[in-house]
Amino acid sequence: MAIIQTAAATPPAEAAVRNALLGVIDPELGDNIVELGMVRKVDCSPDGTVTVTVALTIAGCPLRTQLRKDVEARVGSLPGVTGVKVDMGEMGADEKRALMARARWKAREDAPVTEIPSTTRVIAIASGKGGVGKSSVTVNLAAALASRGLTVGVLDADIWGFSVPRMLGLEGRIPGESTGGGPKMVPLERTISGSEGREGRLKVISMGFLAGEDEAIMWRGLMLNRALQHFLEDVRWGDMDYLLIDMPPGTGDIQMGLARMLPRTEMIVVTTPAVAAQKVAARAADTARKGYLRVAGVIENMSAFTCAHGETYALFGEGGGERLAAEIGAPLLGRVPLDMAVAAGGDAGEPVALAADGPVVAAFAELAGRIATDVAPVVEMSGCTVRMLDAVEQALGPKEPGAPKPG
Ligand SMILES: Nc1ncnc2c1ncn2[C@@H]1O[C@H](COP(=O)(O)OP(=O)(O)OP(=O)(O)O)[C@@H](O)[C@H]1O
Ligand SMILES: [Mg+2]
Repeated sequence: MAIIQTAAATPPAEAAVRNALLGVIDPELGDNIVELGMVRKVDCSPDGTVTVTVALTIAGCPLRTQLRKDVEARVGSLPGVTGVKVDMGEMGADEKRALMARARWKAREDAPVTEIPSTTRVIAIASGKGGVGKSSVTVNLAAALASRGLTVGVLDADIWGFSVPRMLGLEGRIPGESTGGGPKMVPLERTISGSEGREGRLKVISMGFLAGEDEAIMWRGLMLNRALQHFLEDVRWGDMDYLLIDMPPGTGDIQMGLARMLPRTEMIVVTTPAVAAQKVAARAADTARKGYLRVAGVIENMSAFTCAHGETYALFGEGGGERLAAEIGAPLLGRVPLDMAVAAGGDAGEPVALAADGPVVAAFAELAGRIATDVAPVVEMSGCTVRMLDAVEQALGPKEPGAPKPG
């Protein structure tokens, strides 16, 4: 009897795994686990199984489940990986000392490059080609997440073709706030009242708020990536559970910029059910991975439309989302039906996801639920009653081991 062997893809190189792990942030320490020295060992076996040994500062770290999930997700989405095993250990005294030194040095010398809090989940919404509904998905997903009582930032990275302000019904100029480090831009806010009295917030930044005459001239001269950098560094974002980034079409450059500035960014690829759209979307996912961004999943937009009589019409074909998901090895997170309410909501500045009910509302509520509980869960800091650094500091005893005893 013949043995059927599935064609094993080339297993990933250790360097690729370590690069992917740059995107796993210890939210308490505010840095990635590679640079913090928490990745003790990476083992890539020929069958595509990757074993990552992570050393925690404290064995019972409340964030261990989250770190494990993040490592699994990041490494698991690399091409050629068939399985991920995460071994958790505890740091020895020397490792802890090195980590402390690094964390202190970082805090002093290497002030955070961006204004995005380390506890914020960053999700970029991208696609291979324009017009598939990135912006519509971004604003509706943001609204659906905010309806869960969360604070959601929306960064409109479509510098020239911005549409987020109109879709969220926000207009005006961004106030600059002058602080010690120079003026900071303050995002425009919108409160979202969710179910069961939960109130969420949207914090929005877009070129549309800056495009006064003078600024327009100044910004026109900027490279796309410079503009993105401004939005990440010079905006007073404050606390956020999520930051959704509406990517411009044809996103190679800006994806690379994101990978450099915010390597923990995860990407969601939007596609339509048609095959042609799906091919270019695969290319977008590929570019993301070359920059070591994790592709968290696929959303199929403009899926089969159901008319008032219950008849279903697959106007833009069928199965594109599923095929793309299989091709790039990421889950299909959901489908958003083709519905005039999406376009009407966008024009009116009232995302349809905020309506009382309907198929689109249900689709976005389900997507938001899946993201918040499974794909990129909200970072829970309440389990940490003390700053981890303090705890480690205490566990280590006197601060200067070599210093003479007082008295
Ligand atoms: N599910 C949907 N049902 C009906 N219309 C939709 C749906 N999704 C998006 N649209 C409409 O399709 C058009 C394109 O959508 P959108 O602007 O969100 O796409 P985009 O990918 O951001 O485009 P661009 O590449 O130009 O930024 C808009 O008019 C929008 O209202
Ligand atoms: Mg758009």
